Parts: sequence; C-alpha cells; structure tokens
Amino acid sequence: MTEIIDGNAVASEIRDNLTDAIETLADAGSRPGLATVLMGDDPASQTYVNMKQRDCEEVGIESHHVDVAGDAPPETLYDTIADLNADPEIHGYIVQAPVPDHVDYREVIRRVDPAKDVDGFHPENVGRLVAGDARFRPCTPHGVQKLLEDAAIDLEGKDVTIVGRSDIVGKPLANLLIQKADDGNATVTVCHSRTTDLAAKTRGADVVVAAAGAPELIDGSMIGDGAVVIDVGVNRVDADNEKGYELVGDVEFESAKERASAITPVPGGVGPMTRAMLLYNTVKAASLQNGVDVDLP
Ligand SMILES: NC(=O)c1ccc[n+]([C@@H]2O[C@H](COP(=O)([O-])OP(=O)(O)OC[C@H]3O[C@@H](n4cnc5c(N)ncnc54)[C@H](OP(=O)(O)O)[C@@H]3O)[C@@H](O)[C@H]2O)c1
Repeated sequence: MTEIIDGNAVASEIRDNLTDAIETLADAGSRPGLATVLMGDDPASQTYVNMKQRDCEEVGIESHHVDVAGDAPPETLYDTIADLNADPEIHGYIVQAPVPDHVDYREVIRRVDPAKDVDGFHPENVGRLVAGDARFRPCTPHGVQKLLEDAAIDLEGKDVTIVGRSDIVGKPLANLLIQKADDGNATVTVCHSRTTDLAAKTRGADVVVAAAGAPELIDGSMIGDGAVVIDVGVNRVDADNEKGYELVGDVEFESAKERASAITPVPGGVGPMTRAMLLYNTVKAASLQNGVDVDLP
C-alpha cells in the first residue's frame, strides 16, 4: 500500500506544538510578531498574504501588514523595510514576491535585517545554511524535511533527486539534505531545464522531490519501484469546473502512486508545511531576539 503523506495533519501538529512556545514568549513579554509586506495588488500574492495573517491569528502570533503602492519608487519599499527592521514588536517579516519589475528583489532581500528574515533568503542566512549553521531554514525546504521526518524516512545514504534549482526550493533543499546531520546525509542530484535524461535521474532515486513548476512533468514511468515522492509543484491548469481551473503538482499523481512507497498529494502535501514553517521561523526569531529559550517542534 502506498502511503499518502498528509501535509495538513503534519502541519497541524507543528502549529499545535508551536502554541506552547508562543505562550511562553508572550508570558515573558514578547509575543511573536510577523509582518507581511505587499507591493502592488497581484491577486495571488494578496491571497498568500491573507493566508499568512490568518495562520498567525490561529496560533497567537501578532500579525501586521503593510501595503506599498505598485507604482511607488523602490525607496518607498526600502523605507518600509527600514521601519520594520527598527520595530521591536516585529520579530520577522516577509516581502511577498514577486515585486514589480522596477524593483530589484535581490536588493530588497539584502536590506532585510537577517535576524528578522524569516523567509531565510538573505545572503547571510543562505551562507549560514550552506555552512551547516542555519538560523532560518527557508520554509518550503524545511517543510519537506519535516514531512520526511514525520514519515520516518531516514535519508542517510539515500539517493535523492531534486528537480528544480530555484533559490527558494531546489538549492536550499539540496544544501540541507547533504549536511552531515540526522536529517541530511543524503547523496543529492539537482536537475533543471538543461538536464539531459531527466527520467534516468529520477528513476534511479530513492527519493524524488519535484519543484519545477511544470504540471505533471514526472509520471510513474520516471519513478523507481518503492521510491518516496515529494511534490512541491503547484500549477493551475484549465478544468471543466466552476472555477475553470484546478491545481496539479509537478507529478502525475495516479501513475506515480502505483510505483511509489509514499507520496504527497497536491493540494494537501507540501503547501500547508510551507505555511507552518513560516510560523516556526517567526517563533524562533522572537526567541532569539529576546533571549527566551523555547522548545521548537
Ligand atoms: N507548495 C509550496 O509551498 C510551494 C512553495 C514554493 C514553490 N512552489 C511551487 O513549486 C514549483 C517550483 O517553484 P520555484 O519557485 O522553485 O520555481 P522556479 O523558480 O520557476 O524554478 C523552477 C526550476 O525547475 C526547473 N525546471 C523547469 N522546467 C523543467 C523541466 N521541464 N525539466 C527539468 N527542470 C525544469 C527550472 O530550471 P532552470 O533553472 O534551468 O530554469 C528551475 O530550476 C512551482 O510550481 C511553485 O508554484 C510550491
């Protein structure tokens, strides 16, 4: 029987476990605070920001939000960032991507105080992660690690193929999984759009992580017998329903399920974990900034 890895259940457990730490911090006078910054009015970004705020409210994290006009000069966003860096009630914040074309996202990230960079994208935090001394693990890769841990999948000595080399998923995940650590110790292959014979690389893997943003790119014929499949992809495809679309992953679920020993669904797999790990990083940020020790799940 193939195990369907339930991201909603694991994320819910992590959120429940975080509430104790949040109340400990609140009792010590430092209830964790997360801010979201949205430049422009992209509807998908607005939805993500709303979800992040709702998640905070549910676990007792103070949520704050700043809107910046989409046609404002970059300096307006930089001023917002400087204000958040200086605000002691904000322990972490995220600048929702994408930012408008006239703003350099890398410069935005460089201006975020690394101690409040709960996305884990600042170069200092990237460097620490690569060096095996992560302060904030980026939320999606960390969520993937937690799913594997919860499913009792020991990566030591396993071959992992990651499809995708983005700065937010593929690269940090590869760096985490090769660390000499209990949740690492894997041998990792990272594939991308220039990879030749992708199927050979996925078929030979004990664990396949798909993060390409290509609907159903990986089908059952590309999965080795008994492999574990983690599908990070979230893609909108046209569908004959009320909304006119449905969400599918980067993996063709039905055929991959026939070969896999365990697989994540889309939705309900990695997505809820990404949201939970943002809360985790916010609690960690508050703990570090205030010198209050808490147990993190
Ligand atoms: N569930 C979640 O919480 C969550 C979080 C983040 C992202 N996502 C989803 O995960 C997917 C990836 O996101 P991302 O931000 O990492 O995307 P991205 O920045 O667009 O990167 C995609 C990566 O996949 C590679 N790729 C694309 N098509 C490929 C193909 N046919 N064969 C092999 N490699 C291919 C690209 O190669 P090149 O580098 O050569 O272009 C690139 O490295 C998207 O569907 C996104 O919506 C989900």
